[in-house]
Amino acid sequence: MSTHLDRLLDATPRMAFVPDPTPVCSIGDFEGRVELLIKHDDAQSFAGGGNKLRKLEFLAAQAKSENADTLVTSGGIQSNHARATAGVAARIGMACHLLLRDMVPGQPPEYRTNGNQVYLSLFGATHEILPTETDLQAATDTTVAALTSSGRRPFVVPFGGSNWAGCLGYVACAREIVGQFGPRATPEVICVPFGSGGTYAGLLAGFHALGLEQRVVGYCVFDTVETAKARAFGFLDDLAGRIGLDSEALRAAVELDDRTLGDGYGLPGPDTVDTINHMGRNHGLVLDPVYTGKAMAGVVQWLRDGRFTSGSRVLFLHTGGQPAVFAYSSTLRREVEARG
Ligand SMILES: Cc1ncc(COP(=O)(O)O)c(C=O)c1O
Repeated sequence: MSTHLDRLLDATPRMAFVPDPTPVCSIGDFEGRVELLIKHDDAQSFAGGGNKLRKLEFLAAQAKSENADTLVTSGGIQSNHARATAGVAARIGMACHLLLRDMVPGQPPEYRTNGNQVYLSLFGATHEILPTETDLQAATDTTVAALTSSGRRPFVVPFGGSNWAGCLGYVACAREIVGQFGPRATPEVICVPFGSGGTYAGLLAGFHALGLEQRVVGYCVFDTVETAKARAFGFLDDLAGRIGLDSEALRAAVELDDRTLGDGYGLPGPDTVDTINHMGRNHGLVLDPVYTGKAMAGVVQWLRDGRFTSGSRVLFLHTGGQPAVFAYSSTLRREVEARG
């Protein structure tokens, strides 16, 4: 185990929002080729659960240490990140304001009222829904200026919770996984949805810091491999500097696939619906149509393509997102029923 990593994690202020460790369960033999294990970061003990809480453990501690009184962040209308930030703000006694961009075309009415939108009201956050073409960075700057001039002390949580501090949540998760399985018995491949990229980058850097060579595969749900890779490199270079890792080795280990993107962010294609349907019916597993459903469809595709060593163990990180099932209820029901 890396003492450098331990020192960095121990020295960085952190709050506790996630059960430690989150549970792992085995789906067993998957498609006759690998053993599929699920790590349940969707465990919903607080704020609707999900991967953003691990990042917010570090980001909220930073906000506290800067004496902030308001968390500000941005995302889509059904952003899990915005919902988790709102829950954290409520827990730590801060106000929360969210800038939500209309990013997914052609959605039914419940997309604007159900799912994560319900949680925002429960957590007492305020929000604005902004047109598709909005520059979220500029909108955030305007909000921060307005809050500051009215005497508030805003703290900006980055898009998707992804910067070096947010990534530490998943560096710590890599250490948690190795602690759960032991270094020799840790699954050879870890699969994860790739959105803003902090979850992916943190895990990859974490395994490298521990001297392990797990493959970490990211399934793109937000943009293409080219754009996603550039973002991953940015986070990895930053983490490499802070943890003392070889950034070239980290860059070389990046494995991403964007076939999962389909028609674009927030638009589940037939393979995603089939996968959600299959995992629900056969395993009682709830996958969401934006992140985990797409990533699991990617895992199935990789199995069929023979991209995992036969007989190996694959750990799927369930990053949460179940509230979105209710925002997509008519689409999912229609598609699932059409498949019989
Ligand atoms: C449920 C869920 N899974 C995965 C992701 C992707 O995580 P990251 O943004 O760290 O790539 C997100 C991001 O919003 C998410 O909400």
